Amino acid sequence: MKILVTGGAGFIGSAVVRLAVARGHQVVNLDALTYAACLENLAPVADSPAYAFEHADIRDRAALDRIFRDHKPDAVMHLAAESHVDRSIDAPGAFIDTNITGTYNMLEAARGHWLGQGRPERFRFHHISTDEVFGSLGPEGQFTEDTPYAPNSPYSASKAASDHLVRAWFETYGLPVVMSNCSNNYGPYHFPEKLVPVVILNALAGKDIPVYGAGENVRDWLYVEDHADALLTVLTKGAPGRSYNIGGENEARNIDLVQAICGILDEKRPKNRPYSAQISFVADRPGHDARYAIDPARIANELGWRPSVTLAEGLDRTVQWYLDNEDWWRALQNRKGVGKRLGKAS
Ligand SMILES: NC(=O)c1ccc[n+]([C@@H]2O[C@H](COP(=O)([O-])OP(=O)(O)OC[C@H]3O[C@@H](n4cnc5c(N)ncnc54)[C@H](O)[C@@H]3O)[C@@H](O)[C@H]2O)c1
Repeated sequence: MKILVTGGAGFIGSAVVRLAVARGHQVVNLDALTYAACLENLAPVADSPAYAFEHADIRDRAALDRIFRDHKPDAVMHLAAESHVDRSIDAPGAFIDTNITGTYNMLEAARGHWLGQGRPERFRFHHISTDEVFGSLGPEGQFTEDTPYAPNSPYSASKAASDHLVRAWFETYGLPVVMSNCSNNYGPYHFPEKLVPVVILNALAGKDIPVYGAGENVRDWLYVEDHADALLTVLTKGAPGRSYNIGGENEARNIDLVQAICGILDEKRPKNRPYSAQISFVADRPGHDARYAIDPARIANELGWRPSVTLAEGLDRTVQWYLDNEDWWRALQNRKGVGKRLGKAS
């Protein structure tokens, strides 16, 4: 299958591209190369004849039309987005433009292509979204695909809007879409502004390890390579018009996650005091959702997919990857905003 992947130079998109090429698909990676992109993430596939790169912005409709005409993809996996909640608090405009208008452009360009090809039934537009669209849970319960939307940050609101557009393009125009909403990803190639790499890199640098609020917020952690596998499962087996929640079955409080990473570093890179001594509690994020948890029943029962990696295994692999790939993360630490406290609002 020829798959047009948007955002393929980002964290999750690059895992999808690497896996799709390994599984014999042809991949066109469309990416604007924002601050969050890193083409080195594609080094394992860059020379493959099955891989092509298009430097383009999803806000540019004419560029999208040209790319669909040139490549004639069988499917789209749409991951390109502004993705950092803290940045969305400081500067929401880019999130509206890319996540909402950009998704609209992708839908229209894909629809034009699909119509031009005679409405092939097998065509798919897979929209990749987040569990943050469902808002915040109390101590009990899980998000199902039927949980009402209640986004709380500019990021999650923009993703919620894009989800609604995708649904409407299925209901109104019959475009064969599939949708997925996943929990927090972690793993290799995670941009160094997100929680897991911040903890690892600040610990190694001897700096404070910032934990928002009391660290009580609960997330369901999904190993990125498991997620890429789930996404290809949804793309190839999912029913048109249907959405699938993807979780790691790994709920943890932030403070417990941070302590676990410190414990792994104590073993792998011991020093004179435990890394947990560097933990520093800082002012909470405004509108910080208390708990996210995914009910994985639909993807398990209908598509036969389950995560393969426990949180302990995934964190061990992730910490080892950062220890082994210092050149990769050092180069990204100079990018604007990285290492700074963002998103405190005023
Ligand atoms: N990281 C997570 O834990 C998580 C969880 C749930 C859902 N998601 C969703 O998964 C997708 C990928 O997330 P990620 O963490 O890999 O993000 P990322 O920030 O690492 O990568 C985003 C990629 O999109 C590209 N991009 C941004 N704006 C663009 C534009 N206007 N045109 C073309 N390309 C553009 C960037 O250059 C970058 O390569 C996003 O849609 C995000 O909402 C992420």
